[in-house]
Formats: sequence, C-alpha cells, structure tokens
Amino acid sequence: MAAKKIKEGVYWVGAVDWDRVLFDELVSLPEGTSYNAYLIKGSKKTALIDTVEPHKREEFFRNLEELGVERIDYVVSNHAEQDHSGTIPDVLERFPDAKVVTNKKCKTMLIDLLHLPEEVFQVIDEGEELPLGDKTLQFFMAPWVHWPETMFTWLKEDRILFTCDFLGSHIATSELFDTTDENRAKVYLETKRYYAEIMMPFRNFIKKHLALIDRLQPEIIAPSHGVVIKDVEFMTGAYKRWVSDEVKPMVIIPFVSMHESTRHMVDYLTSELSKEGVIVRPYNLITADIGNVAMDLVDAAAVVIASPTVLAGAHPSVISFAYLMNGLRPKTKFLSVIGSYGWNGKVMVKHVQDTLKNVKAEWLEPVLVKGLPKEEDYEKLSQFAKELAAKVKEVSTL
Ligand code: FEO
Repeated sequence: MAAKKIKEGVYWVGAVDWDRVLFDELVSLPEGTSYNAYLIKGSKKTALIDTVEPHKREEFFRNLEELGVERIDYVVSNHAEQDHSGTIPDVLERFPDAKVVTNKKCKTMLIDLLHLPEEVFQVIDEGEELPLGDKTLQFFMAPWVHWPETMFTWLKEDRILFTCDFLGSHIATSELFDTTDENRAKVYLETKRYYAEIMMPFRNFIKKHLALIDRLQPEIIAPSHGVVIKDVEFMTGAYKRWVSDEVKPMVIIPFVSMHESTRHMVDYLTSELSKEGVIVRPYNLITADIGNVAMDLVDAAAVVIASPTVLAGAHPSVISFAYLMNGLRPKTKFLSVIGSYGWNGKVMVKHVQDTLKNVKAEWLEPVLVKGLPKEEDYEKLSQFAKELAAKVKEVSTL
C-alpha cells in the first residue's frame, strides 16, 4: 500500500496485512489488519510515530522512500508490542542518528523485547512537548489500552491524536479515512470487535482516556490499526456506550451439545426468551467465531452457559470460552447455566462458576436435566425464561 497524505506534512506510511487471519494466536481477523505508522515532517525535524510488524518492513520502507525521506530524527513509540515496535531496530539501522522517544516504562519493555541499547532512547514524561519546528508533539500517558506502558501522541498544530491500539480496528483497506458510506458500517463493527477482544477488561481506564480526548478535541484520531478516524464524535460516542454500565435487553447462550439433549434445551430456551421480548443469541461454541460472541458480551444483559457434563465437568470448549470471558470481564448483569447430564450435573455447574469468578454478576438458579428433556423440564425452562426476561428488561437501558 502506498504512502498517503493526511494533512500537510503528515503521512500514513504503514503496511496492510490483507490476509492475516489471527492475532496473538487468539483473535480472529475476518477483515485482515493494518499496522499504521505515521511520518510527521516539521520545518526542522522529522518524526516517525510507531513502525510495523517486522514481516511488513519492506512495504513500510518503500513508503518512506516514496516520500523521499532522508532523515528521521525521532521514532516515537506509543506502545511496545511488536506489531508497532518490531521494525524499530531496522529504522535505527537505516537512520542511525534517530532517537527512540518514549516513556520510562515503554523504554524498559522495548529493551526487553527488542534488545535496544540504552543510548538510543530519549525518555519523555506526561505532558512533555517535542518541537519539530512548525509542528509540536505532546505526550500523554494512557496506561492499559491495552498494556501498562501505552501513551498517546498529540500533534498540536494539526489537532491529530495518535492513539496506537486505542480506537483502532483490524481492517485491511486501501481507504485512509472512515468517511465513505462503503466502509462506515464495517469500521463500526470492526472497532467494536477490537474493543470486545482487546480493550473490554480496561473499561475504567478507558473512561479516563475518553475524557482526555473530550478535553483535547482532536480533528482526527490516527490509531495504529485500521482506518484514520475523522468522525471522532461518532467513534468516541460508541466507545462511551460500550464502557458505560448500561446493557441491552439481550441474552446470549454460548453452548456445546454432544447428543442433542443440551441443544434441545438451548433451542427451547431461545424460543421462550424470544416470546418474552428479549433479544436472544445462541452460539454453538464448536463453530462460532468467538469474536462475534465477544461483541455481544460488550452489552448483553445476561449470559446463559449451556453444557453437557463430560469428564466430570463442563465440556472443554465451554470452559475455554468461560476462561476467555472471565478475562474479558464483561458488564453482564446475570449469569446462569443449563445443561443435560448422565449421572451428576452439579460438577458441570461448579466448573463453569469457578471459571467465571471474575465476572461480577448475579447467578441465577441453573436448570439441569437428566438425559433428554421431558415435559416437566421444558416447563422449568419456560419459568426460567420468564424470570430471566423480567430481570433483563428491568436493568436494560440501551
Ligand atoms: Fe497492535 Fe497491542 O498491538
């Protein structure tokens, strides 16, 4: 992908990874991704903000060559993760006078991860400015979006905020901005997916960072993945809803079924909840894209985990999902478990509950069925659906 001009003297010089399918060996990338690096040419100094995943270094250097870059004075590192920092050693090899500008914590991590020598660093503090001539960079610490060392870089004169992963989206596209009708819906969806899978555990930190953005009033937000954001209010507004305590009248039912008994329960519960007027999303964990489930975890009022009992506990795929959900710590208000068992169902419930101990929600009485559900079991599920729907509707404000 060719270099692109954002404003006079400000360029996107990153790389697009069109067919990458997985990030961190965990997060699916249905739309590929990009690694956004930015070049800022001041009247006296030139700065680079972040770099790219090392396997994309040739594309990145081609962009710098296209722009005729002969000197880089500063490489700003907003975040030490290698998809943004991994090409810093190559930049220093080509531009040996460049200084790596970052905060103290990020410096330590860059030394650990890339074995950079001490003398290449210029360490900055909260609010410190770095003049480039007619342009000025300013740095704001933004811990936990999503590592402890993350920071934002503010280009004062152009009112552009470089937020690294924060407000980013995993999208491979030839379009620079979020402004076309073609990509607007995709940007919203993929930004939500990014929030769901990466940022959700840090909701309370994010509230502070959104307040900083409100104070700075940027014209443009330039994250390190996906498109550059011009509709700042739309995107920060979406983030504000996601990080709020508000939930939707939605129940999600992540399930596994081995011999259809648990599936019968899920199908019936789905139908009963739907009759009660709440949104229901059953997800078969064997085939579902976990990113889609995570997106619904962002604002669902309730989660009902459905599992058979196997190997003296819940199905391993259910536990794998529950482990992830426990780490994501969604704002879900109610949790419960349903499932079929052969001789002891309580061990399955305990297994799920123990795995989800970081999710602070009210647990509702589980519905367990021995073997294939019978008439009285469906009645129990109907009653369960009524009670759950009433609770969900009472707390939902979105
Ligand atoms: Fe895109 Fe946390 O790296």
